[in-house]
Amino acid sequence: MRYRNFTLGLICTAAISGLVINTDFVSAHGDVTPQAIDTSELPDIGEDWLEENPWRDPKSEAWATALKIGASGYNQNCARCHGLEVISGGLAPDLRYLEADIDGDEWYLERYQVGYTQNGITKMPAFGELLGQKAAWAIRTYIETRPDDGALDDHVEQLKEIRDKLQAIADAGTVSSSADDIANMKTAMQEIAATVETASGAPVADSAASRAVALLDGSEASAKNAAEALTIGLSAAQ
Ligand code: HEC
Repeated sequence: MRYRNFTLGLICTAAISGLVINTDFVSAHGDVTPQAIDTSELPDIGEDWLEENPWRDPKSEAWATALKIGASGYNQNCARCHGLEVISGGLAPDLRYLEADIDGDEWYLERYQVGYTQNGITKMPAFGELLGQKAAWAIRTYIETRPDDGALDDHVEQLKEIRDKLQAIADAGTVSSSADDIANMKTAMQEIAATVETASGAPVADSAASRAVALLDGSEASAKNAAEALTIGLSAAQ
């Protein structure tokens, strides 16, 4: 009961200040302090908890936004235990394998809302009341779209080559005069992205290749951004 009152107090404080930074929380949960997530860009889905991820369909309008918000929410709140890019280092289960369906969602929500306590020790904090359900489904969307282990292995050399070419174009500041070259690289990466599968069974994987394609929007900064996304994606995959 004390804990519950404490949590409600924290939520009120958070609602007033708009920020969940409260050092008391550290003593309640070891070193784990849930970080507020700005979900205002996502459509409203009501107060009652849904049973299934409303943003699972890659064709749904909110999919890309959910992915973006989920990536940052995951990195701030879950990565320290479940691993960067959802690749577990063994501290906690590898969440990429949680089925992207209603049964997987039920199990996901149970842990997200309640956390996990063993012999009185909090192994995973409860996030439900503090972060809410929009954050829950955004993070879920990010988790389930991770590529399966080794999904890019056959394409690493080609992607490195593309990365180097993009970097060279960025360094030379020749994005607009290299439009044809960039279009060819985009096509090659789209073909690679289409082969990448998720471990969760979700229909579309958000891989380094698909991210780089999305970043190549013709702007002068795009070559540098795409090269960076490839560098990060390829090093996480190794
Ligand atoms: C302090 C470490 C820690 C943090 C932070 C953490 N978890 Fe966990 N999580 C665990 C541990 C440990 C387990 C294993 C509990 C068990 O045995 O069921 C777990 C289990 C889970 C499971 C069940 C997985 C399965 O295969 O059974 C889900 C889903 C999950 N966590 C989601 C999350 C999400 C989402 C976040 C961030 C919002 C998060 N966790 C943050 C430690 C953590």
